[in-house]
Amino acid sequence: MDLTLLAIESSCDETAAAVIKNGRILTNVIATQDIHRKYGGIVPELASRDHQKNIVPVVHEALSKANITKSMLNAVAFTKGPGLLGSLLVGVSFGKALAAGLGIPVIEVNHMQAHILSHFIGDPKPVFPFLCLTVSGGHTQIVLVKDFLDMEIIGETQDDAVGEAFDKTAKLLGLPYPGGPLIDKYAREGNIHAFKFPPVDTPGLDFSFSGIKTAFLYFLRDQTKGNAEFISKNLSDICASIQFTLIEILMKKLRKAAEQTGIKEIAIAGGVSANSGLRNTLEKEGSERGWKIFIPKFEYCTDNAAMIAMAAHYKYLAGEFATQEANPDPRMTF
Ligand code: KG4
Ligand code: ZN
Repeated sequence: MDLTLLAIESSCDETAAAVIKNGRILTNVIATQDIHRKYGGIVPELASRDHQKNIVPVVHEALSKANITKSMLNAVAFTKGPGLLGSLLVGVSFGKALAAGLGIPVIEVNHMQAHILSHFIGDPKPVFPFLCLTVSGGHTQIVLVKDFLDMEIIGETQDDAVGEAFDKTAKLLGLPYPGGPLIDKYAREGNIHAFKFPPVDTPGLDFSFSGIKTAFLYFLRDQTKGNAEFISKNLSDICASIQFTLIEILMKKLRKAAEQTGIKEIAIAGGVSANSGLRNTLEKEGSERGWKIFIPKFEYCTDNAAMIAMAAHYKYLAGEFATQEANPDPRMTF
């Protein structure tokens, strides 16, 4: 018998749906909300309204392009958390209602676990146990992945996420939201050693990004004093230097985690894994240190429903279903 699932992702500002059949992704549809751009960040109220507007057409498209009718579905999966409550509520309510109407089970998926399981969408696949540096707009974690549904966070940020640090530094430079991809773009032309920022010291495998954000604020304040054109004249060098600093903070702890665990299978996941500087650094260090590196395809780095579908596939096989009482959990951990 075929196993066909519909998966819905609505944790932040992407309304997404995917269909997976026997572990293979058939469709992966994403509606990105541009509405937040002009506000310099995500406005939760607007995000949930946009999900409400997009969810039906996005699900329809995912099903019809896959040539799958609703009656062929074995279960409906959705992101339970972490994320914005109003955004999650749309996916959870829609998913439960659809499943109730069809008389099929629901599957709840942890968004961060799904980012990690995006590595099982294509080839090559990592071998357990592996380490995953999960870097997004809301999270920065080093995860020890023991099995599809058995993961342990061994390091995480004590304050801001690295994606937030990218977005906030971009905002200070006058760049629109989300600033991460723009910093990446300008950094390609710049000198990573042009400007220096103070080192960050945090215990164990944990991270901190709030200090670097403040240091960057003071740096810009000092440099632009009497020199209004400082940013426009040095944009590439500034972006390259701050990006290099943020990547170094990540790499320092990743090296330490690899040494401590002796694990050489290293993956990255989450929106910031789209960063070309991080991808290149990882490739380079991987070959120097004998690590086997796993970097997701661009389309599976930022939020998408294919990763939710992949996680749902393994949960279905493990018999991990939820009830119709399922609720969003904005602060969900593993
Ligand atoms: O995983 P994701 O799509 O959403 C969350 O779950 O948060 O990650 C979004 C984050 C944003 O902070 C965005 O600026 C960052 O990923 N991002 C990047 C790049 N592409 C996306 N940061 C740096 N360089 C990029 N190329
Ligand atoms: Zn995400």
